[in-house]
Amino acid sequence: MVLLLLLRPFTVKPILLVSSLDLKILSVSAVEKLKMGFLGSCLGFLVFGVIGICVFSETEAFAADKKQATQLIVDAQANSGRQIPETLFGIFFEEINHAGAGGIWSELVNNRGFEAGGLNTPSNIDPWSVIGNESQLIVSTDRSSCFPRNQIALRMEVLCNIEGSNICPSDGVGIYNPGFWGMNIEQGQSYKVVFYIRSTGSVNLTVAFTSSDGLRSLATANVIADSSDVQKWTKKELLLESKGSDDNAILSLTTTQMGSIWIDQVSAMPLDTYKGHGFREGLLNMLADIKPRFMRFPGGCYVEGEWLRNAFRWRASIGPWETRPGHFGDVWGYWTDDGLGYFEFLQLAEDLGALPIWVVNNGISHTDQVASSSILPFVKDALDSIEFAIGDSKSKWGSVRAAMGHPEPFPLKYVAIGNEDCGKKNYKGNYMKFYSAFKNAYPDIKIISNCDGSSHPLDHPADLYDFHVYTSASKLFKMAHQFDNTPRTGPKIFVSEYAVNGKDAGTGSLLAAIAEAGFLIGLEKNSDIVEMASYAPLFVNSNDRRWNPDAIVFNSSHHYGTPSYWVQQFFKESNGATVVPSLIQGGSSNLLISSSIIWQSSEDDNYYLRIKVVNFGDSVVPLNITITGLSSNSIRSSGSKMTVLTSNNVMDENSFENPSKCSIIDF
Ligand code: AHR
Repeated sequence: MVLLLLLRPFTVKPILLVSSLDLKILSVSAVEKLKMGFLGSCLGFLVFGVIGICVFSETEAFAADKKQATQLIVDAQANSGRQIPETLFGIFFEEINHAGAGGIWSELVNNRGFEAGGLNTPSNIDPWSVIGNESQLIVSTDRSSCFPRNQIALRMEVLCNIEGSNICPSDGVGIYNPGFWGMNIEQGQSYKVVFYIRSTGSVNLTVAFTSSDGLRSLATANVIADSSDVQKWTKKELLLESKGSDDNAILSLTTTQMGSIWIDQVSAMPLDTYKGHGFREGLLNMLADIKPRFMRFPGGCYVEGEWLRNAFRWRASIGPWETRPGHFGDVWGYWTDDGLGYFEFLQLAEDLGALPIWVVNNGISHTDQVASSSILPFVKDALDSIEFAIGDSKSKWGSVRAAMGHPEPFPLKYVAIGNEDCGKKNYKGNYMKFYSAFKNAYPDIKIISNCDGSSHPLDHPADLYDFHVYTSASKLFKMAHQFDNTPRTGPKIFVSEYAVNGKDAGTGSLLAAIAEAGFLIGLEKNSDIVEMASYAPLFVNSNDRRWNPDAIVFNSSHHYGTPSYWVQQFFKESNGATVVPSLIQGGSSNLLISSSIIWQSSEDDNYYLRIKVVNFGDSVVPLNITITGLSSNSIRSSGSKMTVLTSNNVMDENSFENPSKCSIIDF
């Protein structure tokens, strides 16, 4: 059977594109039996004349076309293929660019425990601000919190009153929090506000979501308490339903009553979150749509820290949220309250149907390193973290997980020892201590080394090794062949971070995406040795771009995928599918790359042959596709489709204004 695929754009600009052709086929067993055949009718000629796919009989058109056209030969017999690992394509979630705090974690309050300013009081309460002037109130911090791990509390000394010589403004005085560049408050939605309060007298406090200028009230509630009720720290919980919308709203706590009030651990969360687990729904849907089979977390450099003292500590990130101290991530330069902690990361992976891949700190940061002779406490800490994830609910750390609402173990099967630390002095010594302890306690856990074993065999044991690449578009496209000659013995490869960056990428260009698609096709073809791959970084809050480009861009209310995100859509059916041989010959074959898979849809149970083609060149390429092992009788035109990612200009990017400028189009 022969297909003519004309890779033709509607304007003659450099014509990079990714396309995939999904042919609905009868069944895998039918495919095996069928011989080459021809289909005499056109499968579809597409709108705007952008791309044409026709299937011709050899006698009609193929003989003429194959003289000029580049040939793609696909052997669609399932028995000539190989199964792709179930885990080939996944995601890498790093707390970078406010991906978690102010991102997928739905907490609206930024610096909810007033801890971000450090332990020395009085401290900076940024981004909280004061409502009222110095004659009306004095706001400071002290160490009087009821939570021993996060001692800072806010103190409001209210000097004005409802009557007398110093009358408070009618809207009251107090404090407000702007969230992460504005809170997204939506009409009709409910928000749970929780905080802790203590006072020497009675309390009459107004809790409100308002527009950023404080003039438009969106939702409001009062907390009225006798002094006997609030003499000691007391938890207050309110449900606020919004009667208006504003994606730049603030949360305020105000009073018109004189007195001293202490406030701590102020949280505001929408009631509607992804699977009710606290994750921002729209952003999670973007992840679920690409069907990731694993999730590496929580970094990246975030795991290491500039200094070890600022690295992510799993133990401080679990348990009731109010008790978590939070920490300053000094690599990406911002505070996080650790609402998105180790437990939530495991939950996130589970909610996405992805295997968690936990990256542990191995006693090495960007600046300091623990000697291998003193590394055992770090090893013990990491062992405890594994017990927390997979231990029986009666085990010491498994019981902590169970108390947090997850008695069943999480399916933690992979642990990475460090991030990008291979070249560092103590890495191998530390690695071996972690490796031996992990294998001893958990022989089935697969261990990932930071050292690249693709050019030289590793000098230490590992189940997988980590491979990171950030480079130009043309280099990454060529790296589709990076693993063609890697020895097939030894550890598997985990390409846990890859992306085109620099001027080819901007903040997420089509050019970058097309090169990445070519690279991924190479990984798919080498998936006998490449077991996993994930793009990096995944998210960026547009108000805090620490790294460009990223797959998903968001602000408080909106989000969009960069072209690199849309490339992921072409590969989401590859996990566990059968990759069959496909070969490009003649013409501009060095600027084209292709792979083909047979996959079964979980939606309709049908089998599909998906042919993916990337054209990295700057001209139209007529492509004759010859499919052996498949007859016309086995194809169903209804259900077959062509999908394309392209745009007018190679440097085109998506934006909040035009989020779909470069996104996939189904024909
Ligand atoms: O993905 C961004 C950063 O790139 C990661 O934190 C780090 O591992 C790499 O250098």
